[in-house]
Amino acid sequence: MKRLITIIGARPQFVKAAAVSRVLRGHPDLEETIVHTGQHYDQNMSEVFFKDLDIPRPHHNLDVGSGSHAEQTASMLVKLEKLLKQQPTDAVIIYGDTNSTIAGVLAATKLHIPVAHIEAGLRSFNKKMPEEINRIASDHLSDILYAPTSTAMEHLRREGLKQKSVLSGDVMLDSILYYQKLVDKTPERFKIKKLPEIYNVVTIHRPSNTDDLANLKNIFRAFELIGEGFVFPAHPRIKKILTDSGIEIPGNIEVIDPVGYLQMISLLKNAHRVYTDSGGLQKEAFMLGKPCITLREETEWVETLNHGWNILTGPNTDKIVAASSAKIVESEPQSYYGNGRASQLIVSHLKDNI
Ligand code: UD1
Repeated sequence: MKRLITIIGARPQFVKAAAVSRVLRGHPDLEETIVHTGQHYDQNMSEVFFKDLDIPRPHHNLDVGSGSHAEQTASMLVKLEKLLKQQPTDAVIIYGDTNSTIAGVLAATKLHIPVAHIEAGLRSFNKKMPEEINRIASDHLSDILYAPTSTAMEHLRREGLKQKSVLSGDVMLDSILYYQKLVDKTPERFKIKKLPEIYNVVTIHRPSNTDDLANLKNIFRAFELIGEGFVFPAHPRIKKILTDSGIEIPGNIEVIDPVGYLQMISLLKNAHRVYTDSGGLQKEAFMLGKPCITLREETEWVETLNHGWNILTGPNTDKIVAASSAKIVESEPQSYYGNGRASQLIVSHLKDNI
């Protein structure tokens, strides 16, 4: 029996771990312990994901909560080191690029525990993003890197990390294919009530957009000019900013509480377009065949830009308005993200390599 510890803490990690954990649970030779760092702790940022995605309750919750990057990461490190010292472990699994990812790899590698990084090799080439620093450090320190795309593999090769890299496909595709079926079975259950017939989905939470009110105003102005309905499930970070700043929200934007994963799939499936600065949502829009306008200057998911499925506008009003009427060249999005069985490949590779 091999003992694995999965370290997760933020929304996008719950979605990825759900796919891999389901495969792990079906494996008689592997035992998974789930550690939640507590980075995301609100009911609708955490609990709802475990319930919706049927992820087993975390065996440990470190309850680190919010804080500066240093405070949050340091608190995770101290608690993870203590836990990893107590629990015999054959390997640690980390996901993506959050502070929970970097804390996981730092704590484990210093205790000589092998680390597998799922969703390795992504790069925005913008070190002002905390996630970019987390990605680079996690890839260089981890022992096995599972890259979702050939672009990610190429980044790893260029950084001299090819020997420990495996092109696995994207576990987010596994999740969307699996959970989409659940949503389709009882669509009414997941529908958000009282939406306009034609609406766009918006999410904004990157510090580059939320912490500079001028950027936020430019984005809202674009939505006002576009004039269609916008539904905006707002991350707690931006909810607070909206309240504290008293910024005027145009009447065609409806701000709602954050939604769970299944509700988000339902929202996306019925949406006209998606406007976001999230990494995961750009790709989920692509996987569900919805045009996306990315409110950032760059993206890690460069494949989505092909044929106009995704357009980068930053927080520029004119660019956002222009992108909202841009045409897509191809009718069907290509499959850049594997065959929906990345989790199976990862688990079987991991079992033989730890
Ligand atoms: C984190 C990840 C980001 C990911 C995002 C998804 C890092 C560096 N960033 O960003 O890559 O795209 O999660 O959601 O790890 N807050 C609450 N309740 C919560 C969680 C957060 O109120 O349950 C508030 C707190 O004020 C907190 C702020 O949101 O300070 C930011 O949370 P944090 O987890 O630090 O980063 P995110 O912006 O969520």
